[in-house]
Amino acid sequence: MSDVKKLYVKTYGCQMNVYDSERMVEALGGNGYTVTQTPDDADMILLNTCHIREKAAEKIYSELGRYKGLKAEKPDLKIGVAGCVAQAEGAEIVRRQPMVDLVVGPQSYHKLPAMEQAVKDGVRALDTDFPEEDKFDHLQARPKAKRGPTAFLTVQEGCDKFCAFCVVPYTRGAEVSRPADRVVAEARELVDRGVREITLLGQNVNAYHGHADGLAGLIWALSEITDLARIRFTTSHPNDMDDALIDAHATCPKLMPYLHLPVQSGSDRILKAMNRKHTRDDYFRIIDRLKSARSDILLSGDFIVGFPGETDQDFEDTLDLVRRVGYGQCYSFKYSARPGTPAAERATVPADVADERLQRLQALLSEQQKAAQVAMVGKTTSVLLEKPGRLEGQMVGKSEHLQAVHVTTSDHQIGDIVPVTITEAATNSLAAVPVKS
Ligand code: SAH
Ligand code: SF4
Ligand code: F3S
Repeated sequence: MSDVKKLYVKTYGCQMNVYDSERMVEALGGNGYTVTQTPDDADMILLNTCHIREKAAEKIYSELGRYKGLKAEKPDLKIGVAGCVAQAEGAEIVRRQPMVDLVVGPQSYHKLPAMEQAVKDGVRALDTDFPEEDKFDHLQARPKAKRGPTAFLTVQEGCDKFCAFCVVPYTRGAEVSRPADRVVAEARELVDRGVREITLLGQNVNAYHGHADGLAGLIWALSEITDLARIRFTTSHPNDMDDALIDAHATCPKLMPYLHLPVQSGSDRILKAMNRKHTRDDYFRIIDRLKSARSDILLSGDFIVGFPGETDQDFEDTLDLVRRVGYGQCYSFKYSARPGTPAAERATVPADVADERLQRLQALLSEQQKAAQVAMVGKTTSVLLEKPGRLEGQMVGKSEHLQAVHVTTSDHQIGDIVPVTITEAATNSLAAVPVKS
């Protein structure tokens, strides 16, 4: 009998969790686990959780509820909770959810193999420390197997900004950057395994200081890896958009013309109440500089509506900002009061008012997204092919502007970067044919 055990991982929240889940799978690989796509045949279920809004956190408890029956049938099944809910509510989970065997916060994933061992010996394990050592230095070497052409690579974690609504500074801790030489070494390994595009991740990725010349310095260092074709980064904060980074958008051919730069609100009053430490004019100035550096840059952002104290005029200011910037793609959320954050103490905007504002904002944002998609028709761009399409003779990949593109082709492979002409646009994807050579 083999002692291969199966691990089912469910990932919620941001891309940093996607990266972390991959690393946790690798770490537990050393303990004999291979991945399964269904919870039913798992020996361990690991939920990598998000605490950003109330709904995100609630999902975890309903998901745990679904595993009660499974655990009753299979007493040896181990259940673990990782990520930001683990960090924020770990002790409470251990107290109130007897079915959970293991709780591990985002900074302690390198301890997972030892924790799994303890669980096997019948001990429930909880670790939500912010240890001195860097988890990345203690995670085991990444395996060498081939993998898909795109990868996330976390280079920065944590946040010192303390926006009044946000749990991230509490769940991920203070800003920490990984040294550039380690990031470059990990990028080289990924490229050796077939990766052509790397997205550098951080809660405030442009506050990266693991290279003497900041994030721009890291991007230039990575651009020297011959077979790495594309570099992206996310998420950035307006106050950390320095000249070198804006300049890289003009001069570094491997840096893709797309930027996610959340502003949250278009009202100076609300930006102040949110503790964003920038004004709407500061934001416009950055956008102008970016557009001068790279006129075709596609902008993306995050907005919160119904922040405590938001008036109709504040909301109109947000709509006005959106119209002036012109986004290619955006995320917008109704404000959710999070325990322990300063804004949670303030009087809220009535739910129906916030709902209506969200609908109006989303209608405007999807109009802009549609316009950006339609504007691509007839243009030539390049697409990195990621997988076969649903139809015969079709492959799917991403444009330089991060749009999903269905390419009609029978002559290309996953990982190819294909010059194409865009032939059709829908809200969420484009159709294209290869440029005839
Ligand atoms: N570090 C990033 C993103 C953090 S979380 C940044 O600074 O932009 C991703 C998005 O979730 C935020 O940009 C914000 O729009 C949203 N968000 C965070 N806290 C929220 C809350 N309490 N209620 C609603 N949306 C929230
Ligand atoms: Fe949260 Fe603000 Fe930090 Fe972004 S910058 S993670 S929104 S506190
Ligand atoms: Fe969620 Fe934590 Fe990311 S709260 S958005 S998983 S940093």
